[in-house]
Amino acid sequence: MRYFITAICFVFLLSCGSSTNEAEVESEQGLTQTEREAIHNQAQPEEYNVVHAQGDDETKKVADHCQAIDKEKVVSRIAFGSCNNQDKEQPLWPSIVGSEPDLWVWLGDNIYMDTEDPELMKKKYAKQIANPGYQRLLKTCPVIGTWDDHDFGVNDGTKEFPAKELSKEHILDFLCIPDSDPVRKREGIYQSHTFGEGDKKVKIILLDARTFRDPVEKSSDKKSYIPNKEADILGEAQWTWFENELKDNDAAITIIANGTQILSKLHPYEKWANFPTARKRLFKTIGTYCPKGAIMLSGDRHHGEICKVKIPKIKHYLYEITSSGLTHTRKYNMEPNKYRISEKTVELNFGMIEIDWEASPVEVSLQIRGKENVIHVQDKLVVTDIFPGTEGK
Ligand SMILES: [Fe+2]
Repeated sequence: MRYFITAICFVFLLSCGSSTNEAEVESEQGLTQTEREAIHNQAQPEEYNVVHAQGDDETKKVADHCQAIDKEKVVSRIAFGSCNNQDKEQPLWPSIVGSEPDLWVWLGDNIYMDTEDPELMKKKYAKQIANPGYQRLLKTCPVIGTWDDHDFGVNDGTKEFPAKELSKEHILDFLCIPDSDPVRKREGIYQSHTFGEGDKKVKIILLDARTFRDPVEKSSDKKSYIPNKEADILGEAQWTWFENELKDNDAAITIIANGTQILSKLHPYEKWANFPTARKRLFKTIGTYCPKGAIMLSGDRHHGEICKVKIPKIKHYLYEITSSGLTHTRKYNMEPNKYRISEKTVELNFGMIEIDWEASPVEVSLQIRGKENVIHVQDKLVVTDIFPGTEGK
């Protein structure tokens, strides 16, 4: 299933469907026997390696399975995904590696941990790290990310989950976050990364939508959540941090990522719309600081779609790409969503943001891809079509 938004596509005629033939050939071939053997030999199926450094701070530790992040590198191809069960087949890694990403962003449910037991937490992350396809991604590009409920530790988890501190240590090790990073010291896992230099900067804000999330009640038949205006999703400390991240920001493109779907309102599952006051606050905060090239990312839903919204007084659209899942999807396809501007894909999928920095103005392609790098859903934008800009300016 391929879907192309054509309204502004002519601007990008040359880059439409621009996955390289080379990449497609590679994804068809997948891993060679030699590559599989090499990766298996390096992988540690029972536990991953956390190096405890000696010296002034003996507690300093850095997991060594990830590539170092080069913050000065200009990123043009950002791949992302969610809902990845470590016990299931993971057929998309060859396609993801074949798409030659500069960066991979986990959007949550990175593994299905669902436990309070520290030994099981470690074992389940170790299994994911040892996955041959994921090993190949780790050798291709740096990895950053946030979590959703299953890797937080419990289905639809909230701030009341008792093992969240323990679980935090495991995801930060999985993401190779050093002990010196401020995120190790504060509550929650929210972080930001800025890549590139000058007018080619991309800022990625990774929100933590679990650690501070208030519980929301379900309907009497337990089939849907009842939106609660009093409930918050980020917590005050994270809201203040988020505001400062938008204030202190000279990036050309700002990506705001979290696990929970933000725009879609009509489905009965977890969504920002179950927290209407927090959802409004999110838009108000974004609208106040008008980050350039604002794009929101989410996962969790077991399908892929692109949505957009118009925020009062803001001239341009705010986009959201939902990409889920890497190992399983929900085949039911009928779900109303007035914000959706693409078809909804229920194929296994990952997301891709391609940035053409040489175009003037800069062009951005939002894509949801599947096996063999097939583009299921695509929209193409120029950065001036997304934030900033207030009405009348
Ligand atoms: Fe989830």
